[in-house]
Amino acid sequence: MNPIFTSVRVGRYALPNRLVMAPMTRSRAGFDGTPGELAMEYYAQRAELGLIVTEGTQPSDDGQGYLTTPGIYTPAHVAGWRKITSAVHDKGGHIFIQLMHAGRMSHPDNTPHHRQGVAPSAIAPGTAMFTATGMQDIPAPRALTTEEVRRTVADFRHAARSAIEAGADGIEIHGANAYLVQQFFAPSANTRTDEYGGSIENRARFAIEVATAIAEEIGADRTAIRLSPGTTMWGIDEGAEGADLYRHLVAELDNLGLAYMHIMHQGDEPLLANIRKLWHQPLILNRPGRPHDQIGVDVTSGLADLEAYGQMVLANPDFVVRLKANAAMNEADHNTFFGGTAQGYIDYPVLSARTDISS
Ligand SMILES: Cc1cc2nc3c(=O)[nH]c(=O)nc-3n(C[C@H](O)[C@H](O)[C@H](O)COP(=O)(O)O)c2cc1C
Repeated sequence: MNPIFTSVRVGRYALPNRLVMAPMTRSRAGFDGTPGELAMEYYAQRAELGLIVTEGTQPSDDGQGYLTTPGIYTPAHVAGWRKITSAVHDKGGHIFIQLMHAGRMSHPDNTPHHRQGVAPSAIAPGTAMFTATGMQDIPAPRALTTEEVRRTVADFRHAARSAIEAGADGIEIHGANAYLVQQFFAPSANTRTDEYGGSIENRARFAIEVATAIAEEIGADRTAIRLSPGTTMWGIDEGAEGADLYRHLVAELDNLGLAYMHIMHQGDEPLLANIRKLWHQPLILNRPGRPHDQIGVDVTSGLADLEAYGQMVLANPDFVVRLKANAAMNEADHNTFFGGTAQGYIDYPVLSARTDISS
């Protein structure tokens, strides 16, 4: 049997298999950040995976980047998420809410207060973003003061507490994909001269403080982090010291005893092997574009404890059933990734009868 179907302990939970739904923004929340009604059905359909990691969810008004992404910091957000976590739990699933602060990847037209984005330094990412009036260049952000960096850590703490109140099994800090946490890592986005910029230790400090604060607030065994070492998109350049920064960061985070680390792999295999050695808790690996016939390879080789899949899970509500049956997967429709309603969200077909199974 493929070891991907064996149970595994993650933090305080025993998961029935090692398949993880990767976090995916779907931009179907209300303008106040309350998750939409259809999200309940969307996540519940996928509860058979060992763990669901939700779409990126902002911890504050400042943390929002894209249109109609959900938040988790007001009573309305908590009530909205509670319906989703209950629906997933009713089907025996586990769900971690991903806390995503977009930092400079934000447009004032998309946020509730319409203010300039905030970031480690006032450096624009050099790209455009979708807004209600179409694609627009992202303006330069405002640099956070040292005091505001500390307040942002407190916002993450409050959001994590709110996620637990909403019934989430834990939270995943979004430290990947060029958003706020990774902006601190990269000298191309962080030219600060206080304790959050300059040396490797200083650039890693914000991530470590966020993880420490959340672990204190909700327990390390319900706290996790996602990283994407070596990301080059949207003006992120971690420089020649990038790998050293991650070795320092992972070793420091390891001391906290978090529930898991989630790596969105960008191709540096030696660094991935280093991380595997430095990290003593469960490791989730997401290899973008991993084909169907490779599922389970990293767990089998011992490089990862769990594997995360995005688009294949988005397009296949019965992903686990199809995998066990070695059945063909539906293709994801890119046109319905962001925004819209039920179409391309909760209506992907499931295998209806044994005759659909190809082997
Ligand atoms: C529609 C869409 C939205 C995404 N949103 C997020 C997100 O909110 N947070 C995140 O960490 N990654 C996000 N990702 C990246 C996925 O988690 C995953 O790393 C990526 O899709 C590669 O894996 P895959 O080839 O299995 O899809 C998104 C990907 C897609 C396709």
